[in-house]
Amino acid sequence: MNAPDLLSPAAVCGQPVVHESARAQVSGAATYIDDLPELKGTLHAAPILSPVAHGRLRGIDAAQALQQPGVVGLVTAADIPGDRYFPTPMRDEPVFAIDEVCYVGQVVGLVVATDVNAARAAARQVQCDIEPLPAVLTIDEAMAAQSYVLPPVHLKRGDAAGAIAAAPHRLEGAFAVGGQEHFYLEGQIAYAIPQEQDGWTIHSSTQHPGEVQHWVAHALGLDGHHVRVECRRMGGGFGGKETQAGHLAVWAALAARKFGQPVKLRLERLDDFMITGKRHNYQYRYRVGFDGEGRILGLQVELASQCGFSADLSGAVNDRSVLHIDNAYYLEHVQIDSYRCKTHTQSNTAFRGFGGPQGMIATEAVLGDIARHLGLDPLEVRRRNFYGPGRDVTPYGMTVEDNIAPQLVARLAEECRYRERRERIAQWNAQHPVLKRGLALTPVKFGISFTITAFNQAGALVHVYSDGTVLVNHGGTEMGQGLHTKVCQIVADELGVPFERVRITASATDKVPNASATAASSGTDLNGQAAQYAARQIRQRLAAFVAAQQGCPAEAVVFAGGKVITPQGSREFAEVTHEAYMARVQLWSDGFYATPKIHYDKQTLQGRPFYYFAYGAACTEVVIDTLTGENRVMAVDILHDVGRSVNPALDRGQIEGGFVQGMGWLTTEELKWNAEGRLTTHAPSTYKIPTAGDVPEHFHVSLWPEPNREESVFRSKAVGEPPFMLAISVYEALRDAIAAVAPQRRDPVVLDAPATPESVLRAVKARRAQR
Ligand code: MTE
Ligand code: MOS
Repeated sequence: MNAPDLLSPAAVCGQPVVHESARAQVSGAATYIDDLPELKGTLHAAPILSPVAHGRLRGIDAAQALQQPGVVGLVTAADIPGDRYFPTPMRDEPVFAIDEVCYVGQVVGLVVATDVNAARAAARQVQCDIEPLPAVLTIDEAMAAQSYVLPPVHLKRGDAAGAIAAAPHRLEGAFAVGGQEHFYLEGQIAYAIPQEQDGWTIHSSTQHPGEVQHWVAHALGLDGHHVRVECRRMGGGFGGKETQAGHLAVWAALAARKFGQPVKLRLERLDDFMITGKRHNYQYRYRVGFDGEGRILGLQVELASQCGFSADLSGAVNDRSVLHIDNAYYLEHVQIDSYRCKTHTQSNTAFRGFGGPQGMIATEAVLGDIARHLGLDPLEVRRRNFYGPGRDVTPYGMTVEDNIAPQLVARLAEECRYRERRERIAQWNAQHPVLKRGLALTPVKFGISFTITAFNQAGALVHVYSDGTVLVNHGGTEMGQGLHTKVCQIVADELGVPFERVRITASATDKVPNASATAASSGTDLNGQAAQYAARQIRQRLAAFVAAQQGCPAEAVVFAGGKVITPQGSREFAEVTHEAYMARVQLWSDGFYATPKIHYDKQTLQGRPFYYFAYGAACTEVVIDTLTGENRVMAVDILHDVGRSVNPALDRGQIEGGFVQGMGWLTTEELKWNAEGRLTTHAPSTYKIPTAGDVPEHFHVSLWPEPNREESVFRSKAVGEPPFMLAISVYEALRDAIAAVAPQRRDPVVLDAPATPESVLRAVKARRAQR
């Protein structure tokens, strides 16, 4: 009966419980894979990278490398007993380059040595014999050559071209946003350990142990049950360890198999940058028709993304862009054309928001341009375009039933004194010729669920020991987001025990099989619910046991505060579990959850791909220097919807961290490839992530007070990704500041992200030229 519902204040859920690993992480006691004690005979591998973007691989010369002290040998495609391709849906990615290299940084093979530095030094001495071929390095080149990793996708509703032609006002524009390196603090790593009888244990820093298991088995030519993958925690994943952790694990396992010894493969940062995929950079072209009030009548958007040399998750990422073009707005006549460009660069992958940010920013930019064109307030224009009664069906045919964007935005606008500040900023700008301020308030509506419906399932295994302590396992992984803490809170409440009684174990494929990636922000929704169901079964068995003992109905047995309470009195939970054990009652259980209501047809792009939406809004104030292009975020106010928060401290952490990461994407994090296709920003010296000093001085976060309208666990909402997109307000505020250079102009402000000083300066110059 103590399943937390909306009426009974729960004991542990809803509390700002400290992250289950926080103390261990701060004190250094928490172990990451590189901290695991190394088994006797452990070897170390280092990758050999292609120095050429595209070419025919004729061979490699490793004679010198093999003579180095400590070097044990090489691993190449010839050493793969199973399939030489990763088992991705497109099967378009070789484990090691076979006879062709497709980007600078592609792994051609490994050098294996007795220590890591020897392996790395030797790997750099290996010479690749490559006959260069023409390379496609940019979106423009790929579009011209129709070079795609997957066919284009078109989503149409109504008659966009007709509506634009008939509209009283029209605009068109083009801009680009850059990619983003994940920059997880713990780089990619795997430690492969051979076990008896073709068994394998793989320690992998992965968001998806089940996929690592499948990939390793596939490359080794073994079945799934031979391979056990374990991950206690990652030092950050951010989507970068959704598929790309699998590569490392397969490479380490192949080396371990060849030499019959454990092999650890830890990439150094530079190699991690060069090898692994990043957020997709996008280019946009749009045409929009609108009325005099700024209401969109017809919208055409072309999205072209750089996917790199293979498909990886690009299909799903780009689909999510298409599904988030609407953001919080009703688009009656719309046409979205999405191109998935194949280039000879790293294979881009999942990154927080999974294409959603790249979709949303397009329409936010269009709305900003419409407002400037009509001389209207951008927030007013945004509001007029919101979903509302009779205007509540998305371009993909899902009715928006939980729309709280209008109320949420109204409340934030009031709390952060949007209108007053706009006026003050306009006055300030009129008096300051060099520095210009900008302000923008933008909403987020982010769909929660994997768009591949099958992935929306989860399992858990909960043990109650006879001493009344609880051990939880589930299919999700911990990457710092606090999933394990939330799941333990949920289990604690279900069993009515204090949080300290519940302990989590490492995620492992031999405990919960076939688990989905911890991704799409749905970790708690899925695994939390599965663990709750598992705990519920144990509680029900205990309730039946106690009820039979005492002759009361099972419903009268209450579990709370570490006690089991019946009409006859109260006993310690541990006492009851011990008695139940003696009476041979099963004290452990599995749990399984599959998200209800969702369905989606990938072919027609219609359905209900999302169980619900998470909402939020941010108001950001910036200042730019029009002489240097330097810029700074001065103040940020956020109102974000996490439903009924399982853990407000963790949720705030996700909101703050997500926003700052989004801010980095749009302002300082710049990826540059040179004319040969070599990534030149591949270290913290040249690639700038935000630091503590970049966090805005005024940074105010509040939580929207309503529970989820859908029956999610604890009526909470997913929080991992949605706040990332609140940072689109930074981009819009910067464009607002740039517009102030020539406040009377009606043309779009063209600002390519990241808004580095160079990019801002270019935009300022272009704006001046419009004068
Ligand atoms: N927070 C931290 N600290 N580290 C991370 O790697 N990854 C993000 C987000 N928050 C991440 C994070 C991404 S991309 C996702 S999809 C979600 O966490 C995944 O976890 P969840 O489903 O439990 O929210
Ligand atoms: Mo997150 S990009 O779904 O791993």
